[in-house]
Amino acid sequence: MKILVAGGAGYIGSHVVFELIDQGHDVTIFDDMSLGSEKNIDPRANFVKGSTMAESDLDSVCQDRFDCMLHFAAWKAAGESMTNPGKYAKNNLNGTINLINACDKYDIEYFVFSSSAAVYGMPEYLPLDEMHPLNPGNYYGATKLMVEKNLEWFSELKGMKYASLRYFNAAGYDVQGRITGLEKNPQNLIPITMEVACGIKDDMKVFGNDYSTEDGTGVRDYIHVNDLAVAHVNALDYLVNNNKDLLVNLGAGKGHSVLSVIEKTEEVTGKAVQFEVVDRRNGDPDTIISISELANDLINWTPIHSDLDTLIRSTWQVYKEYVR
Ligand code: WQD
Repeated sequence: MKILVAGGAGYIGSHVVFELIDQGHDVTIFDDMSLGSEKNIDPRANFVKGSTMAESDLDSVCQDRFDCMLHFAAWKAAGESMTNPGKYAKNNLNGTINLINACDKYDIEYFVFSSSAAVYGMPEYLPLDEMHPLNPGNYYGATKLMVEKNLEWFSELKGMKYASLRYFNAAGYDVQGRITGLEKNPQNLIPITMEVACGIKDDMKVFGNDYSTEDGTGVRDYIHVNDLAVAHVNALDYLVNNNKDLLVNLGAGKGHSVLSVIEKTEEVTGKAVQFEVVDRRNGDPDTIISISELANDLINWTPIHSDLDTLIRSTWQVYKEYVR
């Protein structure tokens, strides 16, 4: 199929582009390069620089008829969304509405959306399944939920079939080493830990060690980006073969604490990771763990790279080139 990937030069989008092309699809990357990296661009893909905020850019790129749109072009720092909601409203909402309207205007029948476990908010039970109440605790999660609601309407009113893939904590790097761009100013645990390991940062903060977890630090469900990429291709096949909408969790179903991530990083890199335990971050739950049985049932998906060792080793393969 001919596929347009908005945000295809970004951390997650680039991994999905490689997988799509490996599976034989014809891919065009549409990216404004605000967060994307040249090092992430699959040389087999077409590339068009443009912004989801510029309808003229979308009109221009959509002159080349596409069968499907995959959307990764959004900001994802939950903390920042609470201090700068306007930035998230503009990019995550307006930008996405522009993409959905472009799909309607240019008859792009399928839309695969990068959603997030952040739509669930504070867990009322664990593991989190797709039936869990939707009560996002930050504006980032709220933007993801608002987009999901819009996709429901466009499916109902315009027949655009969509897949909303609710990622847990995306992590790791391409196990084949094809993607080497560092995230710019990362806000997530694993890239921050890696920045300390290779000397980009002197130290890091551990947000709280008084959670009701084994070692007192926050536990999260880290899912490898290669596993996420396979799920996107399988989800696209599901849309085409069933002509039905899809909404599934994508997680490994296993949790790792902040300290276990730091310890594994020190073991793999041989570097000390300096950290200081500080107060909890507002809104952080003790533990978030997924159940992805639905994804296994509907799109025949099981993560195979999401063990902590592979997550850290594949990340270090990239970061070790930047040791200072
Ligand atoms: C993980 C754990 C922190 C940084 C967010 C979004 C979610 C998804 C993933 C996109 C927590 C602790 C972190 C640090 C720390 N994004 N931590 N020191 O908050 O689970 O989820 O990113 O889909 O939607 O909400 O991820 O990596 O920020 O935090 O101690 O410098 O690491 O307290 O326990 P989070 P995270």
